[in-house]
Amino acid sequence: MRVAMIGTGYVGLVSGACFADFGHEVTCVDKDPSKIERLERGEIPIFEPGLDDLVASNVRDGRLSFALDGAGAIREADAVFIAVGTPSRRGDGHADLSYVHAAAEEIAGLIEGFTVIVTKSTVPVGTGDEIEAIIRARRPDADFAVVSNPEFLREGAAIEDFKRPDRIVVGAEDDRAQAVMRELYRPLNLNETPILFTGRRTSELIKYAANAFLAMKITFINEMADLCEKVGADVQQVARGIGLDNRIGSKFLHAGPGYGGSCFPKDTIALVRTAVDAGSPVRLIETTVEVNDARKKAMAARVSTALEGDLTGKTVALLGLTFKPNTDDMRDAPSLDVAPALLAMGATVHAFDPEGMAEAAHLLPGVVFKDGPYDAVAEADVVVILTEWDQFRALDLNRVKSLMRQPVMVDLRNVYRPGDMRARGFRYTSIGRS
Ligand SMILES: NC(=O)c1ccc[n+]([C@@H]2O[C@H](COP(=O)([O-])OP(=O)(O)OC[C@H]3O[C@@H](n4cnc5c(N)ncnc54)[C@H](O)[C@@H]3O)[C@@H](O)[C@H]2O)c1
Repeated sequence: MRVAMIGTGYVGLVSGACFADFGHEVTCVDKDPSKIERLERGEIPIFEPGLDDLVASNVRDGRLSFALDGAGAIREADAVFIAVGTPSRRGDGHADLSYVHAAAEEIAGLIEGFTVIVTKSTVPVGTGDEIEAIIRARRPDADFAVVSNPEFLREGAAIEDFKRPDRIVVGAEDDRAQAVMRELYRPLNLNETPILFTGRRTSELIKYAANAFLAMKITFINEMADLCEKVGADVQQVARGIGLDNRIGSKFLHAGPGYGGSCFPKDTIALVRTAVDAGSPVRLIETTVEVNDARKKAMAARVSTALEGDLTGKTVALLGLTFKPNTDDMRDAPSLDVAPALLAMGATVHAFDPEGMAEAAHLLPGVVFKDGPYDAVAEADVVVILTEWDQFRALDLNRVKSLMRQPVMVDLRNVYRPGDMRARGFRYTSIGRS
């Protein structure tokens, strides 16, 4: 099948490369010339494990190409995917659909023959209807169907998630469109991946419901962690104790500094707005958003407490800046709350992140970026583990201790064990473990 992917970001590039690897002929389109130039030079504009090899091999085999102008690819496509951003709209938190609408306008003028327009971007209920109306208004004669196919991949494990998903959700009422979607995902029949066909509005809501549920699960264990600290319990054992119950499941039960990233924060707020507009508020998610925001803001105080409540003139070393390991994505990362708050408390902030520093440099003025973890902790009064990159799990702790002004660690990801750290002479605090 011929595929045009509009938007070549974290989702568009991974989806495009994976569809090409399935054997389809894919053109990834982006309006950002620097992105397309880099891809044409063989550079990958984002950090995603395994993506460089996947892109290179599919380009080499002639199944994957890139374009600034998508006209040719859209005209020839059996399926045109919309994978542009849907960030929070300033002021009200609704999903900003301006990129989606603009993509629909562009597509409308170009499609030829029966074309399936697939929304992969996360979009509020009813957006498929809007896309259909935009295209129909410009091209009353066109033969097309608009389908919802939300993406559930996780950055850092995106290729594996795309190729071995738990399920594929397709919101399509049109039989011909369903057949095209089945054909696109046919290679996944081998793994017996379930394809769930639903109505378009249902499919759009499934994506928000999934993200909101996961955000709520994280927020639940974070609140349990706070309670554990007060009553002398251990949140990791609580998480294991409840997670072994199949009805609950062990994933997304890691207590930490609050969820961040390019999806959960904006998607939870957008769902809250959709629900209010529909006259059916989702109070659990409203509370989740509130609790999580407060939590991210409260993390700096933990660092201050570890140094007897005064950070004036102190140096804090932050290890990890991205919202999670194995990505360079800084969108809504907890570090964006923690670092400015530490600076406001009078601290000097040193930081190191394996992949996120180029982006962080624009977002965190006043932070001093270092070349590695040991460089970051040198002369620090406290080291804070903010993202659980593998390389922070196996630090040479004697070296860390010898480099620091005082051996104090605030481990916001529970990477180390309290007993071990105390035995090594650290003043150590973590999340939900007394
Ligand atoms: N990042 C994730 O982990 C993830 C996971 C699941 C779903 N999603 C959803 O997927 C969508 C895309 O997310 P992302 O993280 O890939 O965003 P992104 O910002 O990384 O990429 C979007 C790309 O679209 C391009 N673009 C915008 N308008 C365009 C147009 N008219 N023509 C061509 N290109 C255009 C931008 O230049 C950008 O490169 C969002 O709705 C997001 O919520 C993201």
